[in-house]
Amino acid sequence: MADDLKKAIRSRQARVGIIGLGYVGMPLALAAAEAGFPVVGLDTSRELLARLRKGMHESVDLDQRSLRKFIRDKAIRVTHQPEVIRDCDIVCICVPTPLTANQEPVLDYVKEASRVVASALGRRSRRQVLVILESTSFPGTTHDVVLPILERGGANLCREFHLVFSPERIDPGNKKWTLTNTPKLVGGERKCCTALGASFYRQFVQEVITLSSPAAAEMAKMLENVFRAVNIALANELWMMCDRMGLDVWEVIEAASTKPFGFMPFYPGPGLGGHCIPVDPFYLAYKAREFDFLSEFIELAGKINMNMPYFVLEMIARSLDKVHKSVRGSKVLVLGVSYKNDVGDTRNSPAIKIIQLLRTRGARVIYHDPHVPELPIEGGVMRSVALTAQLLAKVDLVLIHTAHTGVDYRMIEDCEALVVDTRNVLKRRG
Ligand SMILES: NC(=O)c1ccc[n+]([C@@H]2O[C@H](COP(=O)([O-])OP(=O)(O)OC[C@H]3O[C@@H](n4cnc5c(N)ncnc54)[C@H](O)[C@@H]3O)[C@@H](O)[C@H]2O)c1
Repeated sequence: MADDLKKAIRSRQARVGIIGLGYVGMPLALAAAEAGFPVVGLDTSRELLARLRKGMHESVDLDQRSLRKFIRDKAIRVTHQPEVIRDCDIVCICVPTPLTANQEPVLDYVKEASRVVASALGRRSRRQVLVILESTSFPGTTHDVVLPILERGGANLCREFHLVFSPERIDPGNKKWTLTNTPKLVGGERKCCTALGASFYRQFVQEVITLSSPAAAEMAKMLENVFRAVNIALANELWMMCDRMGLDVWEVIEAASTKPFGFMPFYPGPGLGGHCIPVDPFYLAYKAREFDFLSEFIELAGKINMNMPYFVLEMIARSLDKVHKSVRGSKVLVLGVSYKNDVGDTRNSPAIKIIQLLRTRGARVIYHDPHVPELPIEGGVMRSVALTAQLLAKVDLVLIHTAHTGVDYRMIEDCEALVVDTRNVLKRRG
């Protein structure tokens, strides 16, 4: 039966089911469809499905025209009905893995998606099914959480199904490194699982790297994101230190970067955002505690990064102080509210915290972001304002939070308002 699945993968006739059609699932669905696989996408959000049926999606990396064509031609079918998973030969789980308010992992979405697959496995008598977890989580999730759910209905590993973990590594907005040319890690429960997983991804990813277990692949993904979180924390700490010493941290980093070996630049900023870097270190630290291991280094990085919006608030207060103004009553324009440049994703964006802090201190806050027309915040909705010289004449301070390209920074340089530049955009322009 494994041979049938192998053949179906190689001939690209295997039916692919994607559970969760967000930033990770939908690009994967499109890549599989472009490779020739028939694809069905399952999502619980009716709103997302309605937008998808019109060929619209939040991800900046998706070729919208291609998406529209595949949906119109029914090469990708999208639905909220979990029964569609019964007909799939390959199922990729791409659901969210967020944190609770107390920074603890929430695996409910992964468990629910696994139950959908388990129920589908119970109703199959034909080919085996390859189940892939792509959602990021701590080492052990595939083996200790997903596998028992799949087995609960009586299905057996390597007989009725195969199971692998293959982390998504996309960097939203990155034009050079995409889903197809970024090497893909695949770690299976057994060798036969790894081989099938690798064979699937080789149909549309240039390089596939196999690992000895799902846990090794899960840990590799954790390392990648913790590496970024820790190094950004170091850059942030250095920024706060340089600020106190009267030094320009960006000048210092550029100078250190001229060393051709043993150094890799990371840059400070207003805090961490997005779905991965601020979240994943907490997943790893949580799992480590189960082994009586306190990951002080990782938790310290989290603490420093979480403190950055407060540091930005202090910089704003200090700037206003110099011209005998206070935060209370000042009009502050936040330039860019997404968590990184040239994308519209505001999940965990430090801009949200900074706006809340400014409002608490009595400031009147407005924002401009070409990628974010509306920002839900504190139970209300803020709307992006047009960036004009007239507007700038009316604000006391401009906070450059996100360094989007295509913003008229010359207008900011020329305006009378104070500027706090957390991205060094103005100096970089020279
Ligand atoms: N966004 C990124 O850049 C990125 C990069 C690498 C890894 N990841 C990881 O990938 C996973 C998914 O992230 P994302 O950014 O795509 O999330 P997302 O929120 O954009 O998309 C997840 C989708 O899953 C749907 N969903 C939730 N439960 C479901 C269920 N039971 N059945 C069907 N659909 C369901 C939601 O409605 C949502 O549309 C997370 O674990 C994340 O950490 C994300």
